[in-house]
Amino acid sequence: MNMVSTTARPGLDVLVSGISGIVAQRLGLRETAYAVADLLRDRLPGPGILTPREREGSPDGYVSSVLYAQRDFSIVSVVWRPGQYTAIHDHVSWCTFGIISGIEHETLYRDMGDHLVEIGRTDNRPGEVSGFAPPGDIHMVRNTSAEIGVSVHVYGADVAKLGSSVRRVYDLPVR
Ligand SMILES: [Fe+2]
Repeated sequence: MNMVSTTARPGLDVLVSGISGIVAQRLGLRETAYAVADLLRDRLPGPGILTPREREGSPDGYVSSVLYAQRDFSIVSVVWRPGQYTAIHDHVSWCTFGIISGIEHETLYRDMGDHLVEIGRTDNRPGEVSGFAPPGDIHMVRNTSAEIGVSVHVYGADVAKLGSSVRRVYDLPVR
């Protein structure tokens, strides 16, 4: 994960102040994720939150960059070229994400101990915002659109300090 220096990023300040106000309320994990989703829906940044070069992504895989991090939450951008995808994983904290471009196709799984079963699929399209909290957040995400995907993810943890928002990567068979 790349750490991005604190250059001015249009739309980032209003997110930081709004999310700071929400986490200060010390709600439950799920309530926090939903409140941040309401905020992100109103204040979803445009593509200009990233530089043109950042929006190009990488041929080597999706690029995740920490735009802002403090003790209680982090704001991370993800840039995916068409077809790029994550491993099956879950997260250390609640997560809220909004799509700026592309389609984040999400497949959800349940952990059966020695294997996973698929329990659902969702297409997340530009302008759409979702929030969730562990447990039950095992998923993999793929940009199924023909354009470069850009999204903003908010995690309820200091991702810069932890190095990643991922709790576990699952290499169990899917049945
Ligand atoms: Fe994830």
